[in-house]
Amino acid sequence: MLASHALGAALPPGPREPAALQTLEWVARPTAFLRRCAARHGEAFTLRLAFDDGPLVLVWEPQAIRDVFAADPEVLRRGQSPGPLAPVAGEHSILFADGAEHLRIRRTMLPPFHGDRMRAYRGLVAEIAHAAIDRWPRGRPVALLGEMQAITLEVILQAVFGVRDARLAADIRTTLALTRSLPRVAAMSLAPRDLGPRSPWGSFLRRLDLVDRRLRAHIARRRAAGPDGEGDDILSMLLAARDADGGPLSETELRDHLVTLLAAGHETTAGTASWALERLARRPDALARVRAGDDAWLDAVIRETLRVRPVLTVAPRKLAAPLRVGDRVLPAGVHVAPCIYLVHRRPDLYPDPAAWRPERWLEGAPDGFAWIPFGGGIRRCLGAAFATMELQEVLRAVAARLDLAPERPAGERMRRRGVTLQPGRGARVVLSDVTERAA
Ligand code: HEM
Repeated sequence: MLASHALGAALPPGPREPAALQTLEWVARPTAFLRRCAARHGEAFTLRLAFDDGPLVLVWEPQAIRDVFAADPEVLRRGQSPGPLAPVAGEHSILFADGAEHLRIRRTMLPPFHGDRMRAYRGLVAEIAHAAIDRWPRGRPVALLGEMQAITLEVILQAVFGVRDARLAADIRTTLALTRSLPRVAAMSLAPRDLGPRSPWGSFLRRLDLVDRRLRAHIARRRAAGPDGEGDDILSMLLAARDADGGPLSETELRDHLVTLLAAGHETTAGTASWALERLARRPDALARVRAGDDAWLDAVIRETLRVRPVLTVAPRKLAAPLRVGDRVLPAGVHVAPCIYLVHRRPDLYPDPAAWRPERWLEGAPDGFAWIPFGGGIRRCLGAAFATMELQEVLRAVAARLDLAPERPAGERMRRRGVTLQPGRGARVVLSDVTERAA
């Protein structure tokens, strides 16, 4: 009793509603909830969410964000309960590792994601994007979110797994779709029990098992092929990697790393690409400037999209020991998260913060921890350079070939799909070929 009272006293204020109600708002109206809490409680506030085993302190002041990202890795544990993602990503996943084990996995996985390596994948992404553009309908509304998901899945399957296997792609797509429906995710989180093939968890596990068997067969084939089977893909680099004892990674480790990359890199990049196109459809001048080959502008478009439409809103950690964050010391056991969404909307850092204005990045950018769409510190997104390259190539390809008209003039709302925030109507636009119009 005394302990929980002392913990409460050290924490910043926050909404008084019961945890169930706060969780409902967090899930159903995330951005409105965050804005309301920020307006009422200021630059640090405490939420109580049903799926966390302790209070969650959100901070959105750059110095406090720095304090979190720069803290000793032994103090910062992973900040989110694994939930339904745990059996998907597997026990060796970097997402669920802590301390020395987390750093060990990171060291194994980092080399293929080094910025220099991205050159190898550019051509592949452009090729996949152009093939998709060939298939899209013209002259009637199309939801680009679904199309972007197909592109990013294809990119991961080829660049990471080294496969061109339509059946595997289809199986993975159906399995991932099961993690997107909110009622389903809620049912799976509340009752993760196999109650037969028709129950939410049971059907999910069966699908997962199917994908798993196909992936393991793929890994085994590649291992058996030895150096002859190697290519430029990330699996080739992981097959050549050695663990701490100098041995190769086990099949289960390889499987877990691949699936983690798929889970972390697919929806996030698809959502961001869709948001960029949803915005560009409402700014034909901005699209024309991408088409003209202005690379500084293209980077500004990507930065601004990640700023104002971040697909992930927080980068959570759990404290294993007390930590000074801003002007207070937070006790051990508390979850703390730099709030990506709120720091990106600070009017002192970004004038007219809700407006999508790539121009602002050409006029000078704020320093430090003001732009954190990929998180920071020892858990910063491993795929940031890969995602940026992918966004550049997809946006270049679309701008080169298509004009976009929004289905409705009003911008789309940010809506939760699983853990990410995506365009509420799926980024619906009407496409027309650039050449047709010019002719
Ligand atoms: C626009 C696209 C993307 C966004 C916005 C994004 C964002 C993030 C964020 C916010 C985190 C948590 C960082 C933290 O807690 O400090 C993260 C982690 C991670 N991301 Fe990404 N991501 C994107 C694409 C990708 C891609 C393409 C991959 C790989 C193919 C990837 C792999 C990962 C991995 C493995 C982690 C866990 C890192 C760790 O725990 O050490 N992400 N990402």
